Amino acid sequence: MNVLVIGGGGREHTLVWKIAQSPLVKKIYCIPGNAGIDKLAECLKMDIEGNFDQLAEFAKEKNINLTVVGPEDPLANGIVDHFQKFDLKIFGPTKSATEIESSKVFSKEFMIRHNIPTAKAEIFDDPDKAKSYIKKVGAPIVVKADGLAKGKGVFPCRELQKAIDAVDLIMINREFGDAGNKIVVEEFMEGEEASFIAFTDGKTVLPTASSQDHKPIFDGDKGPNTGGMGAYSPAPVVTDEVHELIMETIMKPTIKGMLAEGIPYKGALYAGLMISDGKPRVVEFNARFGDPESQAVLPRMKSDIVPIIMACIDGTLDKMEIEWTERPAVCVVMASKGYPGSYEKGKVISGLNDVSKMTDVMVFHAGTAKKDGEIVTSGGRVLGVTALGDTIKDAIDKAYDAVKKISFDGAYYRNDIGYRALNRSKI
Ligand code: AMP
Ligand code: GLY
Repeated sequence: MNVLVIGGGGREHTLVWKIAQSPLVKKIYCIPGNAGIDKLAECLKMDIEGNFDQLAEFAKEKNINLTVVGPEDPLANGIVDHFQKFDLKIFGPTKSATEIESSKVFSKEFMIRHNIPTAKAEIFDDPDKAKSYIKKVGAPIVVKADGLAKGKGVFPCRELQKAIDAVDLIMINREFGDAGNKIVVEEFMEGEEASFIAFTDGKTVLPTASSQDHKPIFDGDKGPNTGGMGAYSPAPVVTDEVHELIMETIMKPTIKGMLAEGIPYKGALYAGLMISDGKPRVVEFNARFGDPESQAVLPRMKSDIVPIIMACIDGTLDKMEIEWTERPAVCVVMASKGYPGSYEKGKVISGLNDVSKMTDVMVFHAGTAKKDGEIVTSGGRVLGVTALGDTIKDAIDKAYDAVKKISFDGAYYRNDIGYRALNRSKI
């Protein structure tokens, strides 16, 4: 079969890498892809936003049997609804079902309606009322813009004034435009975060391995949040008991609730969780695979991903199982100097050939491009260097061995990816 993957980051390289291993797949296309994906798929530049007609035409013309969507924006803009109209098979939730990610107000009200454990919250469309509430409750407190804000619309505030400023930034300065028409003000949850991603066909929930990412830019989880500086799988905080609680109190009730409300959810459902004293609560839902979590999770998947994805679309996931390797995986993100702020592009990357000879090591490209026959940087997050190991320490050591062989001007990475798992493994 022919497969089309939408997106061009580390997550999409991992998806393409995994899909390419399927004996069912003849050819892969990727829009827009990157210099790593280019080795496995035909990459094409196409402005897809607002142009789903042209994309559907392309899918018909190339006899695409399956389209897999990586990022949230096309999902929130209705790419799935559009492809379904043309009878094209596509993996991901519809526009309405994507509201579980694209509207924090919808998501919070949904969780309340279905008794899904999450932070206590109030919703506001008036900045003055929001500020009075914040003053009444006090810090720490979290302020969130309702809509999609490229991961920048969430403000966990340990000081009252920061929360007030966040309301102004979102609702008065309108930093995120209409995404800030409403806000969610919620309880600050303490605990350890984990990511839990599942495949679902709208009825059955088939979990992937647990994972954890490192959002802040600096070692020790300090500094501003990024899209993710590294990840590892499994997350030891997700014990068997916690896994069971996540499935029974969060994942299954969510899928059942969406079905009951007439908006069946198909695709990958990602729950960002806060775990405290063995009790998981939802921080947020995402309507897609995580990035960089996928770079750590999918290399541990032994089963062919394509039949699982097809079963999600066809509604036959109850017949499927996924086999996982016990071996942990660690992904260290190499970024451009200055990220998550501004950074330069076009730096030549060296060492990739050396690393390609290492066993159990995979380099997933994010912001890379080809220029004059060389691979150069073209984004903030550049590479996700992933290793499988016999233990978490082994995986961490191998990933950093590989990272040290790769260089580009201004390369930055954290030195402590996996530290929480490592600390737990020593207990
Ligand atoms: P989100 O975009 O909703 O995942 O939020 C980004 C980050 O903000 C999360 O990964 C958490 O670290 C933090 N965060 C969001 N909501 C809360 C909360 N209610 N309590 C504590 N931290 C939070
Ligand atoms: N790693 C966080 C995300 O994918 O949203």
